[in-house]
Amino acid sequence: MHHRTIIEPFRIKSVEPIGLSTESERVEYLKEAYYNPFLLRSRDVIIDLMTDSGTSAMSAHQWAGMMEGDEAYAGSRSWERMQAEVRDLTGMANILPTHQGRAAERILYGHLGGPGKVFISNTHFDTTRANIEFSGATAIDIPIAEGRDPALEHPFKGNLDTSELERLLTEHKDHVGAVILTVTNNSGGGQPVSLANAEHVSSICKRHGVLFLLDCCRIAENSWFVKNREAGMEGLSYRQIAQRMFALTDGAIMSAKKDALVNMGGFLAVREGTLAEACINLLIITEGFTTYGGLSGRDMEAIAIGLQEVFDPHYLDYRIRSTTFVGDKLHALGVPLMRPTGGHAVYIDAKALYPHIPPHQYPGQTLVCELYRLGGIRSVEIGSVMFGTYLPDGSLKPSPMELVRLAIPRRVYTQSHMEYVAETFEEIMRTREKVRGYRIIKEPKFLRHFTAHFEKL
Ligand code: F0G
Repeated sequence: MHHRTIIEPFRIKSVEPIGLSTESERVEYLKEAYYNPFLLRSRDVIIDLMTDSGTSAMSAHQWAGMMEGDEAYAGSRSWERMQAEVRDLTGMANILPTHQGRAAERILYGHLGGPGKVFISNTHFDTTRANIEFSGATAIDIPIAEGRDPALEHPFKGNLDTSELERLLTEHKDHVGAVILTVTNNSGGGQPVSLANAEHVSSICKRHGVLFLLDCCRIAENSWFVKNREAGMEGLSYRQIAQRMFALTDGAIMSAKKDALVNMGGFLAVREGTLAEACINLLIITEGFTTYGGLSGRDMEAIAIGLQEVFDPHYLDYRIRSTTFVGDKLHALGVPLMRPTGGHAVYIDAKALYPHIPPHQYPGQTLVCELYRLGGIRSVEIGSVMFGTYLPDGSLKPSPMELVRLAIPRRVYTQSHMEYVAETFEEIMRTREKVRGYRIIKEPKFLRHFTAHFEKL
């Protein structure tokens, strides 16, 4: 028999209670948080879809591994396990443990960057761009054109535009710090990159003598899309597909808070020795000794196990299909979405949902507040609150898109939680014309979305 229902491929051994609240309580909490969900207390959130980063549930095997963590300063057994696992996966000799992804970014891009340097990516994630720009270098995003059209269906919207890459490598000859493929492309909607695209990028980089890197924090999810969407890949395992992608590159950065199924951690993997040595020097100054970076032995133990578990085909099937389940439900309700659904999140096009709310009244922030008010669901605005800037006359230069991200933590929520999210959207759709926008009443100079205060219009 073929079952329609995708069951969670795990039983729940330990539970964490959810604090339920009423709509009128949430109206108060929202007001107290100045309509900014970053200022809400997690205990007042029913379903937290703010991020899939560091929010995974660990397995019984990982928790058991934590007890075996070897906390020695040097030469820890847990480090040996993590190092062996990461070496086997990436095929790279030099592995540097870091406390999370951005620590690896600061080390690598701090070394490769500097004024006059250019970095090219399908899309730099915020922290990647920030670390590159902090070094004085420039970050350029060149996703394929299809990747910029939210409603368009395409199997690999995360791909990098290779003809633009050729042009940029010629234009910036001798000044290119690295080419970076982010898999899956988080800022571009969690969309996958095909192995064919990675191969093409790799051959172009080799021809130009330029370093090619992978931001691989969702590499297992990307492998699912390659196996199930790319011709000729059916016979390979998810891990083999990931290994093929790593084999094309000179280095990789991983925030282990995603596909390593842990709450904290990361690493930098470098193929070549001289570059590795320069990075190791920086690692010791700011993160820690080479055999722990910023991590506890128990964290390294959990990463080693998580990197095994994440490639389990039953887990990956459940993972991608449960994100798609949410996307398909909302699509059927007529909610305007980024299509097709990506690996870790569903992105809603708030500009299309609330066409009567102009960008300077923040349609994305409006949806984020409505989701919390109606369902206690926490999400993130990725639009003019996050990326908007001010023109000299004081008016807002809006972000090109007004998106809201529902990021799904790994192994945390069940299908009924997701049914509840879809049900909340039924009400969002019913009341969409009545809703009004917001105004910012207080904001910091940088990264304003984290701490800004809003007022209802
Ligand atoms: N690269 C990508 C593609 C990411 O999505 C993130 C984090 C990082 C690097 C940085 O890793 O947080 O461990 O320092 N993304 C989180 C998110 C924060 O919510 O998407 P980190």
